Amino acid sequence: MTRNADIAMVYAQHVAELQQRSARALERGGFDHLVVPSGTSHYQVFDDRDYPYAVNPQFKAWAPLTRNPGSWLVFTPGEKPRLIYLQPFDYWHVVPQAPNGWWVDAFDIVVIRTPDEAKQHLPRDVARCAILGEPQSALGEYVPNNPAPVVQYLEYHRAFKTPYEIGMMREASRIGVRAHRAAEAAFRAGLGEFDIHLAYCAAARQDANELPYHNIVALNEHGAVLHYTELDRETPTQRRSFLIDAGASFAGYASDITRTYAHDTAGEFQSLIDAVDAAQQRMCAQVRAGTDYKRIHLDAHLALAGVLRDVGISRLSPEAALETGVSSVFFPHGIGHGIGLQVHDVAGFAESDRGGTIAKPDGHPYLRLTRVLEPGMVVTIEPGIYFADLLLDGLRQGPHADAVDWDRIEQFRPFGGIRIEDDVVCTGDAPINLTREAYAEAG
Ligand code: GLY
Ligand code: MN
Ligand code: MN
Repeated sequence: MTRNADIAMVYAQHVAELQQRSARALERGGFDHLVVPSGTSHYQVFDDRDYPYAVNPQFKAWAPLTRNPGSWLVFTPGEKPRLIYLQPFDYWHVVPQAPNGWWVDAFDIVVIRTPDEAKQHLPRDVARCAILGEPQSALGEYVPNNPAPVVQYLEYHRAFKTPYEIGMMREASRIGVRAHRAAEAAFRAGLGEFDIHLAYCAAARQDANELPYHNIVALNEHGAVLHYTELDRETPTQRRSFLIDAGASFAGYASDITRTYAHDTAGEFQSLIDAVDAAQQRMCAQVRAGTDYKRIHLDAHLALAGVLRDVGISRLSPEAALETGVSSVFFPHGIGHGIGLQVHDVAGFAESDRGGTIAKPDGHPYLRLTRVLEPGMVVTIEPGIYFADLLLDGLRQGPHADAVDWDRIEQFRPFGGIRIEDDVVCTGDAPINLTREAYAEAG
């Protein structure tokens, strides 16, 4: 989606969809106006430096504006959405440009010069407003009230991406894949974690504040730490393996991609990566309308337990490995999550747009999504096999210590772990794998 005319068309449809959803959400909550502050910059404690600004996701859902603190979105059903756009007189900072681009026609835009001026353009009757935001966004009597029925409705339906949103996520995937390729080249060239991270940022043209989450750049044993974000400055003398979990942002949307590489591409660790990769692609094929995401998670345990048995680590059948919790020693996180405006998108457990929670399967506390898949949902599929000391110690000391071959584990431990992660769109038909699609294009 490169032509502005194409974007404008799908964007108009996206905003129309948000208007419909918002009208229904307001009805549920008994309000007349939806009011969404973009958020503010906050000082750090006892300091005059700001935390990095993070836009309110409820705001960026409407427009590709991620660097506009002090702005507001107002929607009253039957009226064109209003964007109160702060463009301060400020010679200390670069101020946001005057609104321009393919998105501006969707709004009545009012430019204000101070945050306070927004009050003149917000709905008069504050009691009739559903104001969605963080407490620091309060402006006079306009204090975020985040009514549950409104938030629940919007968050539940946000799982269903519009074609515009899929287009933005496709771009975020392309950027991520471009940067992943640069990171692999940096690894092959012998760079350490910090320098690989910089190579990634340079290729993505995004720095740590713009990326959708902290890069995980892990060499060797560090791959066993699920959220390893240390970025070692030293370059290790031995390079055995490289796990990188890193995404990119585009117009406020995220991609979330993980790849694992072996230094020795003819060795056993490469074979294990290949086995996880093949299993991962079968899991991605399960992203179909009507499939319970919990099923994909449990099937992933069975598939990975099969890989562990084939490689001589587990002595159990896949079913027994799942039953006894042995598979969880090596695969201790969920198979994935919804993704969109937030890397871990909201409402993963929502039973309906009126609230309620769909429980996680017993013994699987880290699964982030328990809903049945429907067209428009975008989810990650991220199986992994890790050799994490803490979890291995637990297995060794527990009743299932004989279920595994410890010598075999010892051979793999120096490689840390494997994770392969793609972002996959559920459609009415075959799934669309945004990550693999981007690799195929770039390839
Ligand atoms: N990058 C965090 C995750 O994969 O969920
Ligand atoms: Mn993920
Ligand atoms: Mn990830």
